[in-house]
Amino acid sequence: MHVANNDRLGILIPTTKNLGLSCFANRMAGGELMNEWKKLNPIFEYDQIDSRILQHSAWRGHCRFAYDLIHYYQPNTIVELGTHWGTSFFSMCQAVEDGKLPSSCYAVDTWVGDPHAGHYGNEVYDTVSVISTTIYPRFTHLLRATFDEAVMQFEDDSIQILHIDGFHQYDAVSHDYELWLPKLAENGIIMFHDISCHTPGFGVWKLWESLKEKLPSLQFEHSSGLGILFPKGITEQYAILKNQWPELKAYYESLEA
Ligand SMILES: C[S@@+](CC[C@H](N)C(=O)[O-])C[C@H]1O[C@@H](n2cnc3c(N)ncnc32)[C@H](O)[C@@H]1O
Repeated sequence: MHVANNDRLGILIPTTKNLGLSCFANRMAGGELMNEWKKLNPIFEYDQIDSRILQHSAWRGHCRFAYDLIHYYQPNTIVELGTHWGTSFFSMCQAVEDGKLPSSCYAVDTWVGDPHAGHYGNEVYDTVSVISTTIYPRFTHLLRATFDEAVMQFEDDSIQILHIDGFHQYDAVSHDYELWLPKLAENGIIMFHDISCHTPGFGVWKLWESLKEKLPSLQFEHSSGLGILFPKGITEQYAILKNQWPELKAYYESLEA
Protein backbone atom coordinates (compact mmCIF):
# COMPACT_ATOMS: atom_id res chain seq x y z
CA MET A 1 0.00 0.00 0.00
CA HIS A 2 1.50 3.31 -1.04
CA VAL A 3 1.04 6.45 1.03
CA ALA A 4 2.03 9.62 -0.74
CA ASN A 5 3.36 12.81 0.79
CA ASN A 6 0.83 15.38 1.98
CA ASP A 7 -1.60 12.57 2.68
CA ARG A 8 -5.28 13.17 2.76
CA LEU A 9 -7.24 11.74 5.66
CA GLY A 10 -9.36 8.65 5.31
CA ILE A 11 -6.79 5.87 4.93
CA LEU A 12 -5.16 3.63 7.50
CA ILE A 13 -1.43 4.23 7.68
CA PRO A 14 0.56 1.07 6.88
CA THR A 15 2.67 0.62 9.99
CA THR A 16 5.03 -2.01 11.27
CA LYS A 17 2.13 -3.59 13.11
CA ASN A 18 -0.16 -4.09 10.16
CA LEU A 19 2.81 -5.07 7.99
CA GLY A 20 3.78 -7.65 10.60
CA LEU A 21 7.31 -6.29 11.12
CA SER A 22 9.22 -6.12 14.39
CA CYS A 23 8.96 -3.13 16.74
CA PHE A 24 12.40 -1.62 16.47
CA ALA A 25 14.57 -2.36 13.47
CA ASN A 26 17.65 -1.93 15.59
CA ARG A 27 19.60 -4.89 14.35
CA MET A 28 22.51 -4.95 12.01
CA ALA A 29 22.54 -7.34 9.07
CA GLY A 30 24.09 -10.12 11.13
CA GLY A 31 21.36 -9.86 13.78
CA GLU A 32 23.64 -8.17 16.33
CA LEU A 33 21.95 -5.51 18.48
CA MET A 34 23.22 -1.96 17.91
CA ASN A 35 23.87 -1.16 21.54
CA GLU A 36 26.53 1.48 21.12
CA TRP A 37 25.32 5.07 21.42
CA LYS A 38 27.15 7.15 18.83
CA LYS A 39 27.66 10.91 19.04
CA LEU A 40 27.41 11.85 15.39
CA ASN A 41 27.96 15.20 13.76
CA PRO A 42 25.45 15.42 10.93
CA ILE A 43 24.85 18.04 8.31
CA PHE A 44 21.19 19.02 8.61
CA GLU A 45 20.33 19.49 4.95
CA TYR A 46 17.06 21.29 5.70
CA ASP A 47 19.07 24.14 7.24
CA GLN A 48 20.80 24.68 3.90
CA ILE A 49 17.45 25.08 2.15
CA ASP A 50 15.96 27.48 4.71
CA SER A 51 18.01 28.73 7.67
CA ARG A 52 14.85 30.04 9.39
CA ILE A 53 14.02 26.48 10.46
CA LEU A 54 16.82 26.17 12.99
CA GLN A 55 16.80 29.87 13.90
CA HIS A 56 13.08 30.03 14.72
CA SER A 57 12.77 27.01 16.94
CA ALA A 58 13.14 26.54 20.67
CA TRP A 59 13.89 22.92 19.72
CA ARG A 60 17.27 23.60 18.14
CA GLY A 61 19.19 22.52 21.28
CA HIS A 62 17.85 18.97 20.89
CA CYS A 63 18.55 18.34 17.19
CA ARG A 64 21.80 16.46 17.68
CA PHE A 65 20.31 14.30 20.45
CA ALA A 66 17.24 13.44 18.36
CA TYR A 67 19.47 12.52 15.43
CA ASP A 68 21.56 10.19 17.60
CA LEU A 69 18.44 8.70 19.23
CA ILE A 70 17.00 7.70 15.86
CA HIS A 71 20.36 6.27 14.83
CA TYR A 72 20.45 4.24 18.06
CA TYR A 73 16.89 2.90 18.09
CA GLN A 74 16.23 2.70 14.33
CA PRO A 75 12.45 2.87 14.76
CA ASN A 76 10.15 1.72 11.99
CA THR A 77 7.49 4.36 12.62
CA ILE A 78 8.08 7.90 13.88
CA VAL A 79 5.15 10.28 14.47
CA GLU A 80 5.36 13.91 15.47
CA LEU A 81 2.44 15.93 16.85
CA GLY A 82 3.31 19.58 16.20
CA THR A 83 5.85 20.28 13.47
CA HIS A 84 5.61 24.00 12.63
CA TRP A 85 8.75 24.75 10.54
CA GLY A 86 10.04 21.21 11.08
CA THR A 87 13.14 21.60 13.26
CA SER A 88 12.48 18.50 15.34
CA PHE A 89 10.84 16.52 12.54
CA PHE A 90 13.54 17.10 9.94
CA SER A 91 16.32 16.46 12.48
CA MET A 92 14.90 12.97 12.98
CA CYS A 93 14.38 12.61 9.22
CA GLN A 94 18.04 13.44 8.62
CA ALA A 95 19.03 10.41 10.72
CA VAL A 96 16.66 8.21 8.69
CA GLU A 97 18.10 9.58 5.46
CA ASP A 98 21.77 9.30 6.45
CA GLY A 99 21.33 5.83 7.95
CA LYS A 100 19.21 4.63 5.02
CA LEU A 101 16.77 3.36 7.65
CA PRO A 102 13.47 1.68 6.75
CA SER A 103 11.58 4.18 8.96
CA SER A 104 8.41 6.02 7.96
CA CYS A 105 8.07 9.53 9.42
CA TYR A 106 4.70 11.23 9.89
CA ALA A 107 4.30 14.92 10.76
CA VAL A 108 0.87 15.94 12.06
CA ASP A 109 -0.04 19.62 12.25
CA THR A 110 -2.81 21.94 11.10
CA TRP A 111 -0.01 24.33 10.08
CA VAL A 112 -2.06 27.29 11.23
CA GLY A 113 -0.45 27.67 14.67
CA ASP A 114 -1.87 27.82 18.19
CA PRO A 115 -1.99 30.40 21.01
CA HIS A 116 1.54 29.52 22.21
CA ALA A 117 3.32 29.03 18.88
CA GLY A 118 1.39 31.98 17.40
CA HIS A 119 -0.83 31.89 14.35
CA TYR A 120 0.89 31.86 10.98
CA GLY A 121 0.25 31.76 7.25
CA ASN A 122 0.58 29.16 4.54
CA GLU A 123 4.24 29.88 3.81
CA VAL A 124 5.20 27.64 6.74
CA TYR A 125 3.39 24.62 5.34
CA ASP A 126 4.66 25.42 1.84
CA THR A 127 8.27 25.48 3.08
CA VAL A 128 7.87 22.24 5.07
CA SER A 129 6.27 20.60 2.06
CA VAL A 130 9.11 21.62 -0.27
CA ILE A 131 11.72 20.26 2.14
CA SER A 132 9.78 17.04 2.65
CA THR A 133 9.45 16.38 -1.07
CA THR A 134 12.93 17.51 -2.13
CA ILE A 135 15.20 16.16 0.64
CA TYR A 136 13.27 13.36 2.37
CA PRO A 137 10.67 12.15 -0.17
CA ARG A 138 11.22 8.43 0.38
CA PHE A 139 9.79 8.25 3.88
CA THR A 140 8.11 11.53 4.98
CA HIS A 141 4.35 12.06 5.16
CA LEU A 142 2.71 15.34 6.11
CA LEU A 143 -0.73 14.98 7.65
CA ARG A 144 -2.39 18.38 7.65
CA ALA A 145 -5.03 17.73 10.29
CA THR A 146 -5.76 18.12 13.98
CA PHE A 147 -4.21 15.51 16.26
CA ASP A 148 -7.72 14.22 17.04
CA GLU A 149 -8.48 13.75 13.35
CA ALA A 150 -5.19 12.04 12.54
CA VAL A 151 -5.15 9.54 15.40
CA MET A 152 -7.64 7.20 13.75
CA GLN A 153 -5.21 6.66 10.86
CA PHE A 154 -2.79 4.76 13.09
CA GLU A 155 -3.24 1.26 14.45
CA ASP A 156 -2.89 0.59 18.15
CA ASP A 157 0.63 -0.44 19.30
CA SER A 158 2.20 0.70 16.02
CA ILE A 159 4.37 3.79 16.71
CA GLN A 160 7.92 3.37 18.04
CA ILE A 161 8.81 7.05 18.52
CA LEU A 162 6.10 9.64 19.26
CA HIS A 163 7.06 13.28 19.73
CA ILE A 164 4.36 15.42 21.38
CA ASP A 165 4.96 19.13 20.76
CA GLY A 166 1.55 20.72 20.14
CA PHE A 167 -0.34 23.24 22.26
CA HIS A 168 1.42 23.39 25.63
CA GLN A 169 -1.51 24.07 27.93
CA TYR A 170 -1.84 21.34 30.60
CA ASP A 171 -5.27 20.10 29.47
CA ALA A 172 -4.22 20.05 25.81
CA VAL A 173 -0.97 18.12 26.28
CA SER A 174 -2.64 15.71 28.72
CA HIS A 175 -5.36 15.08 26.15
CA ASP A 176 -2.77 14.47 23.39
CA TYR A 177 -0.90 12.02 25.62
CA GLU A 178 -4.00 10.04 26.64
CA LEU A 179 -5.34 9.97 23.09
CA TRP A 180 -2.12 8.78 21.45
CA LEU A 181 -0.74 6.45 24.14
CA PRO A 182 -2.67 3.43 22.76
CA LYS A 183 -0.93 3.97 19.43
CA LEU A 184 2.52 3.56 20.96
CA ALA A 185 4.20 0.21 20.36
CA GLU A 186 5.59 -2.04 23.05
CA ASN A 187 8.89 -0.52 24.29
CA GLY A 188 8.04 2.66 22.38
CA ILE A 189 9.27 6.12 23.35
CA ILE A 190 7.35 9.38 23.80
CA MET A 191 9.24 12.68 23.76
CA PHE A 192 7.73 15.87 25.21
CA HIS A 193 9.17 19.28 24.48
CA ASP A 194 8.95 22.28 26.87
CA ILE A 195 9.03 20.34 30.14
CA SER A 196 11.18 23.14 31.66
CA CYS A 197 8.93 26.00 30.62
CA HIS A 198 6.99 27.49 33.56
CA THR A 199 5.57 30.49 31.71
CA PRO A 200 1.93 31.06 32.81
CA GLY A 201 -0.38 28.96 30.65
CA PHE A 202 2.27 26.33 29.86
CA GLY A 203 1.60 22.99 31.55
CA VAL A 204 3.84 20.36 29.97
CA TRP A 205 6.04 20.55 33.10
CA LYS A 206 3.06 19.58 35.28
CA LEU A 207 2.17 16.53 33.18
CA TRP A 208 5.85 15.58 33.05
CA GLU A 209 6.20 15.75 36.84
CA SER A 210 3.39 13.20 37.26
CA LEU A 211 4.56 10.88 34.45
CA LYS A 212 8.20 10.68 35.49
CA GLU A 213 7.14 9.71 39.02
CA LYS A 214 5.70 6.44 37.80
CA LEU A 215 7.39 5.57 34.51
CA PRO A 216 10.99 5.13 33.27
CA SER A 217 12.27 8.40 31.85
CA LEU A 218 15.23 10.58 30.93
CA GLN A 219 15.24 14.34 30.61
CA PHE A 220 17.04 17.47 29.51
CA GLU A 221 16.43 20.88 31.06
CA HIS A 222 18.12 22.97 28.37
CA SER A 223 16.40 24.36 25.28
CA SER A 224 13.04 24.52 27.14
CA GLY A 225 13.50 20.92 28.27
CA LEU A 226 12.92 17.58 26.64
CA GLY A 227 11.30 14.63 28.42
CA ILE A 228 11.90 11.11 27.10
CA LEU A 229 9.34 8.64 28.44
CA PHE A 230 9.23 4.84 28.21
CA PRO A 231 5.61 4.08 29.16
CA LYS A 232 5.25 0.64 27.60
CA GLY A 233 8.34 -1.20 28.71
CA ILE A 234 12.09 -0.89 28.34
CA THR A 235 14.79 -2.78 26.51
CA GLU A 236 18.44 -3.46 27.15
CA GLN A 237 19.13 -0.35 25.07
CA TYR A 238 17.36 1.79 27.67
CA ALA A 239 19.52 0.34 30.46
CA ILE A 240 22.65 1.20 28.48
CA LEU A 241 21.40 4.70 27.79
CA LYS A 242 20.38 5.28 31.41
CA ASN A 243 23.80 4.16 32.58
CA GLN A 244 25.53 6.67 30.33
CA TRP A 245 22.99 9.44 30.94
CA PRO A 246 24.97 11.85 33.18
CA GLU A 247 27.76 12.00 30.60
CA LEU A 248 25.42 12.16 27.60
CA LYS A 249 23.26 14.84 29.22
CA ALA A 250 26.27 17.04 29.91
CA TYR A 251 27.50 16.49 26.35
CA TYR A 252 24.24 17.50 24.61
CA GLU A 253 23.74 20.44 26.96
CA SER A 254 27.24 21.66 26.12
CA LEU A 255 26.41 21.68 22.40
CA GLU A 256 23.83 24.40 22.95
CA ALA A 257 26.42 26.99 23.97
C1 LIG B 1 5.48 24.33 19.43
S1 LIG B 1 5.00 24.19 17.76
C2 LIG B 1 5.93 22.83 17.17
C3 LIG B 1 7.41 23.10 17.13
C4 LIG B 1 8.23 22.08 16.36
N1 LIG B 1 8.14 20.75 16.92
C5 LIG B 1 9.68 22.50 16.25
O1 LIG B 1 10.56 21.66 16.22
O2 LIG B 1 9.95 23.69 16.15
C6 LIG B 1 3.36 23.59 17.92
C7 LIG B 1 2.64 23.25 16.61
O3 LIG B 1 1.54 22.41 16.95
C8 LIG B 1 0.44 22.70 16.11
N2 LIG B 1 -0.75 22.29 16.87
C9 LIG B 1 -1.10 22.62 18.13
N3 LIG B 1 -2.20 21.98 18.52
C10 LIG B 1 -2.57 21.21 17.47
C11 LIG B 1 -3.62 20.26 17.28
N4 LIG B 1 -4.52 19.97 18.24
N5 LIG B 1 -3.72 19.64 16.08
C12 LIG B 1 -2.79 19.88 15.10
N6 LIG B 1 -1.78 20.77 15.24
C13 LIG B 1 -1.66 21.41 16.40
C14 LIG B 1 0.54 24.18 15.82
O4 LIG B 1 -0.06 24.48 14.57
C15 LIG B 1 2.06 24.42 15.84
O5 LIG B 1 2.59 24.45 14.53
